[in-house]
Amino acid sequence: MDATTNKTATLTVGNNTYDLPILTGTVGPDVVDIGKLYAQSGLFTYDPGFTSTASCQSKITYIDGDAGVLEYRGYPIEQLAQQGDFLETCYLLLYGELPTKEQKEDFDLRITRHTMVHEQMARFFQGFRRDAHPMAVMVASVGALAAFYHDSTDINDPKQRMIASMRMIAKIPTLAAMAYKYSIGQPFMFPKNSLSFAGNFIHMCFAVPCEEYKVNPVLAAALDKIFTLHADHEQNASTSTVRIAGSSGANPFACIAAGIACLWGPAHGGANEAALQMLKEIGSVENIPEFITKVKDKNSSVRLMGFGHRVYKNYDPRAKIMQQVCHEVLAETGHHGDPLLKVAMELEKIALSDQYFIDRKLYPNVDFYSGITLKAMGFPTDMFTVLFAVARTVGWISQWSEMIEDPQQKIGRPRQLFTGAAKREYVPIDKRG
Ligand code: CMC
Repeated sequence: MDATTNKTATLTVGNNTYDLPILTGTVGPDVVDIGKLYAQSGLFTYDPGFTSTASCQSKITYIDGDAGVLEYRGYPIEQLAQQGDFLETCYLLLYGELPTKEQKEDFDLRITRHTMVHEQMARFFQGFRRDAHPMAVMVASVGALAAFYHDSTDINDPKQRMIASMRMIAKIPTLAAMAYKYSIGQPFMFPKNSLSFAGNFIHMCFAVPCEEYKVNPVLAAALDKIFTLHADHEQNASTSTVRIAGSSGANPFACIAAGIACLWGPAHGGANEAALQMLKEIGSVENIPEFITKVKDKNSSVRLMGFGHRVYKNYDPRAKIMQQVCHEVLAETGHHGDPLLKVAMELEKIALSDQYFIDRKLYPNVDFYSGITLKAMGFPTDMFTVLFAVARTVGWISQWSEMIEDPQQKIGRPRQLFTGAAKREYVPIDKRG
């Protein structure tokens, strides 16, 4: 269903009034359409951080932050994570409907057939320092895919768009595993098409060519759920970055590389790394009260990482599933006595009953438990955001495709409230001082 409009808002500025259409979607708040406001009134709107601004119409993901609801194409995240698998979610996000059995088999096959990367990519990796952060390697190598796959960079050709999409969903895990292998000086492992998407990723990360490696099915199932939980999240910072980059007509590989760059920040995808670091710094349950005092101190910049969210003002629905996955993984890997888990659980309990957090509606987000889980699976901290990027690739691509196909699509070009110097005359250098 497209947006409908049968109401208007009236803006009064001095003696002038402007009628602004109100658009209604399927669910969620209505929006005031200000697209013609500047032409009519000479006024811009001002909304740093876009806290009250809908940047596009979308049919992909719906979040009700107050109720703690997340749905992909109308399906609750809990049902998709518990009953489906990640590739099914990928199909759903890309095509809009759950696949039939035949469609699913065909899709799985198409993804697994594209997992290998151009052999020259391996040489491209040799240029990086061994201690490079794998997110730096990801930004560069995903951007470089455009140099290897010229035949899928024409954004006006729907067939090429779909080939580029399939290539990225399939190959970005391979690049991610290569980034990890390179950092520890081990040979790259080729993808194994007989394994599941998550199982293959685990294999590419942890197997070595000289030994048989059996993927632990409990860990593969857990990683699959983690990927599903992170697959899309509406118009978040990295997705908006992908849309803005794509709005200029840039090729899809460049757009996804831009999304990865944005995801790297600690307020976004880097939060699980930061949350684990924080748990390590707290160290033990006795140190929690002192840490909470620091978090609440207006003069300190310490934040409770893995807590709070721009949209969720309730328990992040992904965090609930993540907590459960965390317990499953820790039990399977024998880490259930991990002191960091104890600190996390106690910290969560204290924060949820503390007035500071209650007043600000700060609840655990998906990253609160994902760091401990990924650590127990054997991933080093600097790979956490990389795993997030692997999962989010399908969301970025689906949003990018939706934008390209949107007849209302325009280059993203915000305006500003200028507060710098007004026009002044140039002063030659010998007359300045
Ligand atoms: N710890 C302590 N105080 C906090 C926190 C926190 N994690 N988050 C927000 N606040 C306080 C903040 O100090 C402010 O207080 P006051 O009103 O007294 O000044 C109030 O809550 C509102 O904060 P804000 O910064 O205006 O909120 P925001 O919507 O701009 O920020 C956020 C959202 C996610 C950037 C922020 O909550 C945060 O920095 N959290 C920690 C980082 C984190 O876990 N990020 C992962 C997000 S989920 C994964 C993803 O989507 O990438």
